[in-house]
Amino acid sequence: MLSRLSFNSITRAFSQLSHAPYHKAPVKVAVTGGSGQIAYSLLLRIASGAFLGPDQPVDLAIYDLPQMQQALRGVVMELHDCAFPTLNSLIATDVYGSVFDNVDYVFLVGAKPRGPGMERSDLLKQNGEIFVEVGKALDKYAKKTVKIITVGNPANTNCLIAMANAPSLPKENFTAMTRLDHNRALWQLAAKTDARVTDVKNLAIWGNHSSTMYPDITSTSVKGKPAKELVDHKWVAEEFIPVVQQRGAAIIAARKLSSAASAGNAALDHMRDWVQGTHGEWVSMAVPSDLYKGEYGVPEGLIFSYPVTCANGGYDLVRGLKLDKFSEEKLKVTTDELLSEKKAVEHLLKP
Ligand code: NAD
Ligand code: LMR
Repeated sequence: MLSRLSFNSITRAFSQLSHAPYHKAPVKVAVTGGSGQIAYSLLLRIASGAFLGPDQPVDLAIYDLPQMQQALRGVVMELHDCAFPTLNSLIATDVYGSVFDNVDYVFLVGAKPRGPGMERSDLLKQNGEIFVEVGKALDKYAKKTVKIITVGNPANTNCLIAMANAPSLPKENFTAMTRLDHNRALWQLAAKTDARVTDVKNLAIWGNHSSTMYPDITSTSVKGKPAKELVDHKWVAEEFIPVVQQRGAAIIAARKLSSAASAGNAALDHMRDWVQGTHGEWVSMAVPSDLYKGEYGVPEGLIFSYPVTCANGGYDLVRGLKLDKFSEEKLKVTTDELLSEKKAVEHLLKP
């Protein structure tokens, strides 16, 4: 069932009144899992211009399952009621073809979240299949230049499944989100060193968005000083790393729901930086390891989180870092986990 809910003429009229500059052609942004927790904060920010700026009209296309269409209608009503000048049009539907047709940017959020006591990889059985269908639909309908972020867990391996099922799209278009882990690590280190998050430079999250991820401060500086001189190794190994690795579980234990506002915020940070560039600053993105041919000992065929910089609409690996023994061991653990997740979904990786 395709419910074309409205072309937002009221929003357009408002934008003319407010003299918003509209010489840019609209771009299409798709979000799956539109009636879920993460989408609730993410959609409003995409529609408001927080993703692509106040002068960029957006055609927003939202997917959710047939049984979620009623709830989705409520989300659409709220989007209308915000009267965002940047929202050019809006569709909400349970048809992937309509949502991904000619799409420029895709946020793959739709997937089940874990509950207390689960690991994210426990979701592979339920969620992996979703990304077969999503990959095939992207392959058929999306622009070849589309930029995709996978948020639904386990994000790295779901992204791998979608990429494998979309062979006509360039691999570099597929990414998964570790920006939430990066932001969590920034906050923890800034708080520990009595600094602001903007004082912290060159932080990295390596590997899987899971409890094996490696938050790495080897190259990090705070207010220009090496972080390793400001905090001791015991704190890094016994507090900083486990807190970042387990932050998702801690939020689930507290909220009885997984992180949502911070996840939507991180997805927006990831996509905005990919589009607009990071001006030399490091961010963490999980991207196809095939692009980097074994760099840092990571085998090809995985979606792996690395420190990257973004410029000119692309991202590039931060190269030439020296990994000490501690870091090498951590990278091996998270690599092995990704290899075993990949093995478990081998049957979903053939288009
Ligand atoms: P939610 O339960 O509130 O919403 C999930 C949405 O996915 C719903 O709209 C639901 O209808 C949809 N959905 C469920 N099954 C589907 C299917 N088979 N096909 C298509 N859509 C389906 O969950 P949420 O809190 O919004 O989280 C969404 C996902 O994001 C979860 O997998 C969660 O674990 C993950 N997540 C990832 C990160 C990250 O850092 N990568 C952070 C937070 C949450
Ligand atoms: C998170 O890191 O908050 C999300 O991946 C949700 C989860 O399951 O931990």
